[in-house]
Amino acid sequence: MESQRLQLKKLISMKKVFIAFAALGFFAACQPKTAEIVEEVKKVEEVKVSTMLRPGTDAEMAGMALYTNNCGKCHDLPVISEHSIERWNKVLPPMIKKSKLDEAQGANVTAYVNWQLGL
Ligand code: HEC
Repeated sequence: MESQRLQLKKLISMKKVFIAFAALGFFAACQPKTAEIVEEVKKVEEVKVSTMLRPGTDAEMAGMALYTNNCGKCHDLPVISEHSIERWNKVLPPMIKKSKLDEAQGANVTAYVNWQLGL
């Protein structure tokens, strides 16, 4: 009788150990590995760098002022990223003419838009 109870106790404690290990394995499987996390962070950093603009040149900065002061007169100031590069190539030259900017100013505005497009 006594030994039977002891065996039962042993069995129960073994079961507990088994459950503990199973739980541990489960959690380990769910946790992303450190290497994977590092890889993920690297990817995010790459995206950040690729979408970050370099500082503007003097021409680009001058173009930004001209753009801000002249391109919002007839319509809202256009958001550069809302138009494709192809669209800008078509639209910008006539808009520069409409704004009555001279050639040097036009070149600066074009440089500014290209810079903002990441070109
Ligand atoms: C004298 C008024 C006038 C000025 C100044 C002007 N625009 Fe416009 N813009 C228009 C008109 C009118 C339209 C819509 C009709 C068209 O496309 O010609 C337009 C349309 C646009 C569009 C939309 C084109 C499309 O269909 O995708 C963009 C982008 C734009 N302008 C950019 C600019 C920029 C950049 C400047 C400054 C260099 C500028 N505009 C200055 C009159 C102006």
